[in-house]
Amino acid sequence: MTKYVIHGGKPLYGEIEISGAKNAAVAIIPAALLVDGVCRIENVPQISDVTLILKILQDLGADVRTVNKSTMEVDCTGIHNNRAPYEMVRRIRASYYLIGALLGRFGAADVAMPGGCDFGVRPIDQHIKGFVAMGAEVDVQGGFIHATTQNGRLSGAQIYMDVVSVGATINVMLAAARADGMTIIENAAKEPHIVDLANFLNSMGADIRGAGTDVIKIRGVERLSGGTYSIIPDQIEAGTYMTAAAAAGGEVLIKNVIPKHLDCITAKLVEMGAEVQEMGDALLIRRMGRLSRTNVKTMPYPGFPTDMQPQIAAVLALAEGTSLITEGVWDNRFRYVDEFKRMGARIQVDGKVAVIEGVDHLTGAPIRACDLRAGAAMVVAGLAAQGITEIDCVYHIERGYEDIVRKLSAVGADIRVVITPEEEDVHNSHAV
Ligand code: EPZ
Repeated sequence: MTKYVIHGGKPLYGEIEISGAKNAAVAIIPAALLVDGVCRIENVPQISDVTLILKILQDLGADVRTVNKSTMEVDCTGIHNNRAPYEMVRRIRASYYLIGALLGRFGAADVAMPGGCDFGVRPIDQHIKGFVAMGAEVDVQGGFIHATTQNGRLSGAQIYMDVVSVGATINVMLAAARADGMTIIENAAKEPHIVDLANFLNSMGADIRGAGTDVIKIRGVERLSGGTYSIIPDQIEAGTYMTAAAAAGGEVLIKNVIPKHLDCITAKLVEMGAEVQEMGDALLIRRMGRLSRTNVKTMPYPGFPTDMQPQIAAVLALAEGTSLITEGVWDNRFRYVDEFKRMGARIQVDGKVAVIEGVDHLTGAPIRACDLRAGAAMVVAGLAAQGITEIDCVYHIERGYEDIVRKLSAVGADIRVVITPEEEDVHNSHAV
């Protein structure tokens, strides 16, 4: 069992370099299935979700080579298998991208139902609706999604998404990149990683327009060929360190970011009284006095990201006054609140709304990371709290944050990894 032990209450000073975006990497790596030739992918984050998705591709027959810490070469030319097994797929939500990518490549896919963070029902009806509109037959049996086509190829279609879904938008883009004719996705998601996937596919020869708007047009091409692509910086990792500086205080330069992607987070922190200065591809965040309350509602991009909701709650738990957080994307993303309460936070949850009455200090306590972003928020709370916070189940955090302990230590945080060898390592037995 690995824990993080944080001696909190120390302001942070220094620089943090942001890694490549997790949610772009977990879409771009399966997209390599559509490419004949070597995809050299740069700025790949070293996190367990990426390790898993690469392992799944290797199991399917891909040739994966590590060039250096953040550069991989993935060659899927030799893959002839379209079945992705349960054991690994269940551990990562993004494994559903294998359905779109395998369907696009072979006209058939057999993928176990995906796992992922538990924050309520996570349907994939919009993904399936897209594949069916493109001529696939999709059937769920024995925990597997079986998708087939009559002649081995999908046909372009006009698809209106009933909900704005990152995953369904990406999956249809993957399936459509090599389909016959034009696919139009209406009410598409606009997150930065959707644009990044489109840029990756276009750099390999695809014809995708409109990514980043709510209408995406994909003209299918016969073939995609290899090339080099660099993944964008991680918006949520950057936002998490911004909230760490806001909660613990101090002055931190967050490097290798696209400030535009962070506007929604910057706006809220500034509203609360933090200073945020844009410096090219870096942001300087400074917090000296106590922050004041605000309201936050999570929404699809460019709204405030649901993946930053627990971290901003950690900041609001210490802000002066009463704040409201409304979760606008997931049904049940407040499971972390009970852990915050152990630290002295005053939070009441009613359905999709949390009412946070700011306290003047939090106190360190033993707590448990219940999912990836909740775990990151616990680190943020622990850095700001007085005394010692011990965070359990940190494998959740390591799914999405490269070197979090080293990065925070470099800005003066007192955070250590403690491994308790006598306890069973739960990492391999849980859905991540
Ligand atoms: C992606 O999940 C991210 N995961 C999530 O980040 C993120 O929270 C989410 O988008 C929203 O931004 C990855 O990119 C791998 P959705 P995804 O489809 O694609 C409903 C993290 O912490 N919906 O945009 O699964 C759904 O129930 C992770 O990094 C349907 O109803 O999310 C939800 O209410 C956690 N039918 C809403 O849409 C569908 O077919 C948005 O979900 C699909 C989704």
